[in-house]
Amino acid sequence: MSSPPPIPKSHEVFSSTLFAGKVLFCTGGRSGICYKITETMMRHGADSVIIGRDAKGLEDSARRLEESTGRKCLAVSADVRDVKQLQDAVEKCKERFGRIDHVVCGAAGNFLAPISSLSANAFKTVIDIDLLGTYNTIKATLPLIRSSRGSYIHISATLHYRGLPYQAHVSAAKAGVDALSGVVAVEEGPRGVRSNVIAPGPIGGTVGMDRLTPKGHKPENDVPLGRMGDGEDIANAALFLFSPAASWITGTVLPVDGGENHMRSFV
Ligand code: HXC
Repeated sequence: MSSPPPIPKSHEVFSSTLFAGKVLFCTGGRSGICYKITETMMRHGADSVIIGRDAKGLEDSARRLEESTGRKCLAVSADVRDVKQLQDAVEKCKERFGRIDHVVCGAAGNFLAPISSLSANAFKTVIDIDLLGTYNTIKATLPLIRSSRGSYIHISATLHYRGLPYQAHVSAAKAGVDALSGVVAVEEGPRGVRSNVIAPGPIGGTVGMDRLTPKGHKPENDVPLGRMGDGEDIANAALFLFSPAASWITGTVLPVDGGENHMRSFV
């Protein structure tokens, strides 16, 4: 018996003015999942700032985002490992837009390496980008997020729910990101600040999947809902978590993975 087709996706669920007057600050927004989140927030009325190391790539992405959405996008080059560079980026955002309402902590780095050959510096490099970078982004943006009673979404993963080979560095970093978000939720909740995590499953067409998928492996075979995810699946979850519909949701980790983290393969 052939399997039924996947459940159809729904577009345009949210009002196009949902984030009118709001400003998104997104690390890692030049490409991939974070680009799609930024584009989708802009389609729903937000202006944005995208942060990354590749100045030229950021400018190109900002121009494309403005053209496709009609909203404003500021590109600011900064390395998330350096809190001073992030504070400067926040200043530029303040000069241009006067506020920050929503933050995506999405900058990340990854490669496959067994722990036996992973150098201390290689381990530290990924911890510094993924975990320290998240901490630095929170530190730099928190004063403006407190002012706006805004919210954070941290892009984590599901790989650390079990032991995934060759991912010691990223698993440790993402577990830390999940924990950090929970503490921000508890400490800042009384000030009206929310902090949540999205844990994407296998997302097609991203650098992460291109780098991490072993040759010949079909990730969709591990997904109960029968397909790989795409950026829009993650962006829709972000719209919901940033929106007032999620105003009583903080400190949560939302896997957006078609059920993949529950799957146990028999092969
Ligand atoms: C083993 C490696 C390595 C590899 C780098 N290193 N690549 N070790 N295998 N493939 C080691 C280096 O030898 C060095 O250690 C240390 O890591 C630092 O390397 P640099 O190249 O100097 O660091 P840097 O230029 O800062 O680059 C950071 C990076 C790089 C993470 C290593 O890959 C990068 O910038 N990636 C950004 C793009 C990216 O990875 N995107 C994917 C994100 S997807 P030594 O000991 O030699 O000094 C993602 C999804 C997670 O994160 C969830 C997936 C399911």
